[in-house]
Amino acid sequence: MQINIDKNSGFCFGVVNAIETAENYLKEHDELYCLGDIVHNNMEVERLEKLGLKTITHKELSQITNSTVLLRAHGEPPSSYRMAMKNNIKLVDASCPVVLRLQNRVFNGYNDMKAQKGQVVIYGKEGHAEVLGLAGQTLDEAIIIGSANDLDKIDFTRPIELYSQTTKGKEGFAEIVDTIKKRIKASGKETNFIINDTLCGAVSNRAPQLRKFSKKNDVILFVSGTKSSNGKYLYTVCKEQNPNSYFISTLEELNPSWINSEVKSVGICGATSTPMWLMEEVAKTVKEIKP
Ligand code: F3S
Repeated sequence: MQINIDKNSGFCFGVVNAIETAENYLKEHDELYCLGDIVHNNMEVERLEKLGLKTITHKELSQITNSTVLLRAHGEPPSSYRMAMKNNIKLVDASCPVVLRLQNRVFNGYNDMKAQKGQVVIYGKEGHAEVLGLAGQTLDEAIIIGSANDLDKIDFTRPIELYSQTTKGKEGFAEIVDTIKKRIKASGKETNFIINDTLCGAVSNRAPQLRKFSKKNDVILFVSGTKSSNGKYLYTVCKEQNPNSYFISTLEELNPSWINSEVKSVGICGATSTPMWLMEEVAKTVKEIKP
């Protein structure tokens, strides 16, 4: 039986940068606070916690003073920076440059829309860290759309500027754009609709590669934390191509009955937050399964 690890899976450069920043800091210091999970993968968080990383919540940020806090790749709203300044907290900012650029665009878009009495709309997951950081650029006035079911929140007769959370899927974004266009048409107004495709290539470019990878293998083991947005999306991409695709977060979740005697190849892949070492561990465990 062949076991293939997808070479395109694993951390994106934004996550690599955040993790290396934490590791480098912890080489010289005993501990470092991190605002929220550094990555949506419990196994990797546990590994870094052993090196001295301590995950804190936003509430805890307001309660500590004179410390150093790492900001993860997802980025933060302006309120977190203000809180840090107030509490004399030194920030190690590992926000992904792609997210920072997007925050800037959303901020400018918000000011433009304000002048036109329009609305900023963000296609993303309500409550997701990146979305909170983006909405913070609009004084939390942005309308968050998780799916086409949420579109009633929009007034289709007023200008609309649309952005996307970086890690959403291309198909979902296209569906939102199409439906907004139809609803504008139905409103009978010539509404100004500005579309900003702000999906990150580190996720969207993986989908076509994963489609090919999923077809090539008899069984797919998709390794990801359950909180990862792009993990959920990329797993759906695999499942569509190969019904024998399974989502696992830990080695314990791997069910040996998935690998029966007819299975000739097992493909192991994952999200932008899945560490390569974890996919390698999964490969080792699969090797030991006797169908
Ligand atoms: Fe940055 Fe894209 Fe990763 S926005 S954190 S490189 S998925």
